Amino acid sequence: MSFSYHDGNNVLPPRTIDPAGFGKVAIVTGCASGVGLATTQLFLGHQYEVLGVDMHEMEYSKIDERDQGRFHFHKGNLTEQGECDEVVRICVAKYGRERIDVLANIAGVMDAFEAADVYTDAEWDRVMMVNLTVPTRMIRAVLPFMKANGGSIINVASKAAVSGAAAGVAYTASKHGLLGVTKNTAWRFHEENIRCNAILPGGKRDLHNAPIHQIDHISSYHRYESRYFNRRCQLRSSLLPASSVGLPERPL
Ligand SMILES: NC(=O)c1ccc[n+]([C@@H]2O[C@H](COP(=O)([O-])OP(=O)(O)OC[C@H]3O[C@@H](n4cnc5c(N)ncnc54)[C@H](O)[C@@H]3O)[C@@H](O)[C@H]2O)c1
Repeated sequence: MSFSYHDGNNVLPPRTIDPAGFGKVAIVTGCASGVGLATTQLFLGHQYEVLGVDMHEMEYSKIDERDQGRFHFHKGNLTEQGECDEVVRICVAKYGRERIDVLANIAGVMDAFEAADVYTDAEWDRVMMVNLTVPTRMIRAVLPFMKANGGSIINVASKAAVSGAAAGVAYTASKHGLLGVTKNTAWRFHEENIRCNAILPGGKRDLHNAPIHQIDHISSYHRYESRYFNRRCQLRSSLLPASSVGLPERPL
């Protein structure tokens, strides 16, 4: 039997009733695992054409066979010079349209939980590059393709974007910075019908194989805190029931 994430009790929508993304193109960074993979599945479930990028291999078995024709994977390290522009170039060439409707900036890395007295320059540069510089470069690269038709930029930040007590100094600074990028972009481009929002998850566990009693147990410790700068994220809010359980496909 072929794999499908549209069946059973999954939170993803039945494929025939929600064509929200029909004819639209989305780019998802960090698509090979966790939140990025779940987001890729979500957009495909809504009929989007998706360009996914990740530095690690993508398991195509995780994409429903019926969605694979609308999914293109590009393996690449987004921190390399010119790579963000290259991803957008590939997306436009692949789908043959001078438009990108959604950018989901999800690729990210955790730091070593080092505070300001012990962090290393290398760790700081690594975390800031992936969590702050790359999303901002991706935004710069897609904006020319959003200006004509509008678009939506989604930056996955973290609880650490508003809290100083969630991670090391590098991760905390990078996610605070991403929040600033989000606000500035939302302000500068709102008249061009381009929305820019951040999502601030708390902690997530991979609970796919956990028995339900374990999920209930974990949920009491891992309540998700999320905030949207505006509430126009219809895609998410129409799909996900209020819940205290954080999952890659339902992290909020
Ligand atoms: N996991 C959590 O508890 C949690 C909590 C708050 C925020 N977040 C944020 O959510 C996002 C996704 O987290 P996740 O838990 O799904 O992580 P994950 O490690 O499962 O997935 C991140 C993906 O990004 C990719 N990636 C990393 N650096 C890359 C690069 N330079 N180029 C291309 N791809 C790269 C990785 O290969 C990986 O597939 C991150 O931005 C993270 O900071 C996660």
